[in-house]
Amino acid sequence: MTKKTPTFQDVARPFTYRRRRLFCDGVSLADLAEQHGTPLYVYSAEQISHRFQLFEQAFSDRPHTVCYAVKANSSLAILRLLARQGAGFDIVSGGELERVGRAHKPALRKVVFSGVGKQPWEIDAALKAGILLFNVESETELELLASRAQALKVRARFALRVNPDVFAETHPYISTGLREHKFGIDIKIARAMYHRAARSKWLDPAGVSVHIGSQIRKVDPFTAALARVTSLIADLRTDGHEIRYVDAGGGLGIDYSDSPFHPAQQVQKYAAALNRGLGGEAAHLLLEPGRFIVAQAGALLTRVLVVKKNGAKTFVITDAAMNDLIRPALYHAHHEIVPVKEPAGKSELTADVVGPVCESGDFFARDRNLPAVKQGDLVLILDAGAYGMTLTSNYNSRPRPAEVLVDGSSVRLIRRRETIRDLLSPEVL
Ligand code: LLP
Repeated sequence: MTKKTPTFQDVARPFTYRRRRLFCDGVSLADLAEQHGTPLYVYSAEQISHRFQLFEQAFSDRPHTVCYAVKANSSLAILRLLARQGAGFDIVSGGELERVGRAHKPALRKVVFSGVGKQPWEIDAALKAGILLFNVESETELELLASRAQALKVRARFALRVNPDVFAETHPYISTGLREHKFGIDIKIARAMYHRAARSKWLDPAGVSVHIGSQIRKVDPFTAALARVTSLIADLRTDGHEIRYVDAGGGLGIDYSDSPFHPAQQVQKYAAALNRGLGGEAAHLLLEPGRFIVAQAGALLTRVLVVKKNGAKTFVITDAAMNDLIRPALYHAHHEIVPVKEPAGKSELTADVVGPVCESGDFFARDRNLPAVKQGDLVLILDAGAYGMTLTSNYNSRPRPAEVLVDGSSVRLIRRRETIRDLLSPEVL
């Protein structure tokens, strides 16, 4: 009899069954739970590197820097892994700047600083660190940047993040490229702003940047956005500005379902879409992918505490909760959930998989068909490497999970589990 391979095991994920037990690359998840406890974030170094290299290869025919979006997963060990392969970084706060510096100091020169509300201390820290580019999102911010640059006697390279008014089909919370969003500067007034900025000797109009949203599966909107940016760059050159950088933002989506997904093909499609939008534009291309690099390289390992029936419904209650992974509660995001012990028979249940937090919104899946799991079993919530750990909280006074990085058959604890003492330490009685 041929063994049925569950469909979630495709080239996109490092998690596979061997001898009926789930592994992350060369490491058994049951062993990880034994050694490090649960809930536990597990990442594959190989998958992260592989995803980064897909971008490097797909864009190898033009000058480019892949500035990984730190917000997707800001673990120091992951930042270092990427920096050592030549990554730059897209940051949105002074905290993220500090992380990049700690992970790999030379990478500070490849940092782009995005975000709609930068504070003076954050701008100062970034100017002192000599970052590559500020992505400026308002006239007010441009004035602030000029005054901080003057105070520190350095010239600030900047790009305006333009809002191209392009619709990208994604969840409304993570779509950003329409005029109704808070992000960017109306592309129609950008030219005049560059003109005014060029009068300041402390400002260097070095680039144009755009970001239209996140988890974008169809690549055409990227072409449309970049075509608008490219035409703005041509105008700016006519006006005498030396535009050297074009920042295409992030946003390339993954497949959270169990259908087969081919990351390499997807990155190639994305590159072709950007190239169509850029035409002959030869400026140094900056990319800010986050999710695509880390999401599928990571998963959240959790143990079943209780299987409980309430009326017609079955609830699988795990030791992970919405404070450990908020995407289902916040975006109604779908995450596949698989048992660590490969199911032998056909026995199934339909259940809500939920955490112990005191909210009905605390769920990972609703009315999901699962193999019959029972108390004490381990399950793995897939595709949690991006916007998983970075969106955790201490809600219900729950310590954050630990994180491990698997490298082939070796494992490194990259963040220890928080303790109750950690939780209470900033408080004063
Ligand atoms: N660049 C900028 C300016 C961004 O705002 C973002 C994401 C990225 C790059 C990276 O986008 P990515 O390649 O990861 O799609 N918490 C949400 C996603 C929020 C995305 C915010 N900005 C989620 O869990 O789906």
